[in-house]
Amino acid sequence: MLLHVPEVFTQDEVALLRETLDAGPWSDGNATSGHQSALAKRNMQLPETCPEALEIGLVIRQALEANPMFVAAALPHTIYPPLFNRYEGGQAFGTHVDNAIRQQRGGPLRIRSDLSATLFLSDPDDYDGGELTIQDTYGEQSVKLPAGDLVLYPSRSLHRVTPVTRGARVCAFFWLQSLVRDDAARETLFQLDVATQRVSLDKGPADQAVVELTGVYHNLLRRWAEV
Ligand code: NI
Repeated sequence: MLLHVPEVFTQDEVALLRETLDAGPWSDGNATSGHQSALAKRNMQLPETCPEALEIGLVIRQALEANPMFVAAALPHTIYPPLFNRYEGGQAFGTHVDNAIRQQRGGPLRIRSDLSATLFLSDPDDYDGGELTIQDTYGEQSVKLPAGDLVLYPSRSLHRVTPVTRGARVCAFFWLQSLVRDDAARETLFQLDVATQRVSLDKGPADQAVVELTGVYHNLLRRWAEV
């Protein structure tokens, strides 16, 4: 499942984030690549542990942990600290799959990447190209979102970034380990959650059906979650 999470940040908030990020020590993006993706990747990145990446990464994680749609869809166990990339002057990232395991350099953090996310931090009118193209079970989907919006997709998907032929595309990207490893199980829980909330809006949160559906949700989560 591909999920568009709108307005994680407002345009004004994005402008503030960009002020900090743009002043950072951008360098060759291949620092974080696995062997396969190093062959396909041409972009710039902020070093993982530079103050700008750490500061804005924390702001992003806090915003996501407070975002009901993101939490319901991702069921996050551990969010890997966000990284930042910039594509310009024809830069692109060819088709690849993200590494299954992310180990923080020099740190104790290690996650299995269940979900990948891209948070767009450039106005789509400010650049040409730069679509994130994801191969889904339903075919290829091309994603280019307003600044402040996020796309969440299964890390097992092959994906690429098309060349940026005008302007610059700045994004945050990160991986997370979910409480529910299986994509289909996680998607079913999300659908049940959304449907239950719909019934709750209609009938009120104390309605017997809402209580029973909420029970089913938690009992499935209890079966499927790895905490
Ligand atoms: Ni990738």
